[in-house]
Amino acid sequence: MIVTSDISELRAYRWQDRSVAWGLVPTMGALHLGHISLIEQAKKENDRVAVSIFVNPIQFNNPKDLETYPVTLEEDLKILKKQGVDLVWTPTIEDIYPENYQTYVQVEEFSNQLEGRSRPGHFKGVATVVAILFNAFQPNRAYFGQKDAQQLLLIKQMVRDLKFYLEIISCATVRENDGLAISSRNKNLSKQGRKQAVCLYQALAAANEAISNGNIKAESIKTQMKSIIDEYHLAKIDYMSIANPTNLKEVEIINGQVLISLAVFVEDVRLIDNMTMEV
Ligand code: PAJ
Repeated sequence: MIVTSDISELRAYRWQDRSVAWGLVPTMGALHLGHISLIEQAKKENDRVAVSIFVNPIQFNNPKDLETYPVTLEEDLKILKKQGVDLVWTPTIEDIYPENYQTYVQVEEFSNQLEGRSRPGHFKGVATVVAILFNAFQPNRAYFGQKDAQQLLLIKQMVRDLKFYLEIISCATVRENDGLAISSRNKNLSKQGRKQAVCLYQALAAANEAISNGNIKAESIKTQMKSIIDEYHLAKIDYMSIANPTNLKEVEIINGQVLISLAVFVEDVRLIDNMTMEV
């Protein structure tokens, strides 16, 4: 397994053999089973797999979140080696944003909805770094999780708009046994917080059941979701949304597919989750 932070070296490996198809899995490290599922899918669909590890400072709107973001590089490299990853790209901040860096990518509408509204500047940071990763490496395919549904939608939009020549592959959310979506931030929960973090999944499961039982009123479903989360005293809702999955606009009456998503603070850890449901 090659590990490099150097972009010229990275490109040399990428273009050693032009007939080889490369899959790229962009990550911020602190690897877990969610990331591993993306790598497994990339391995199935490509000749070679590259993983990037870069904690992108410009996508953190909250400095404390950046400070507390887990960094476990040594452990990550062990995991990637075991997974049979071919190339790991570990750029430094200066590699990605050298002095006098000036170019940013803004996906206009998606950047200001839901997560974007709660985290100003977040998606500008995400779109910019992903554009840099795509340009630098030029993979044939890149893998993203549905766990971050809005991020996935935004990246697909950026690829369409800027005409990047690659395929975006979306991968299902991997969950713990109790339903909690696996996330690097789960590591920052206390034991009690970890138990209560199940409220996001429980709220989504209740929404799913309500819709299966014929409830198509978004407001009433949100009320049910809220009452579940309110049972957990460490949890505080940031937002809940029932939206059209193609444009993220809120719906009142569910007709067809909807993306139900939510962000909840458990203690001071901000967790997100979502499910796509259909009437
Ligand atoms: P990170 O949070 O490290 O996630 C890397 C990828 O793993 C993302 O595509 C994310 O959706 C996916 N992922 C995380 N948890 C998952 C889970 N439980 N199941 C399935 N997939 C999961 O997302 C980012 O990093 C960054 O924003 C990045 C795209 C790397 C840009 O900096």
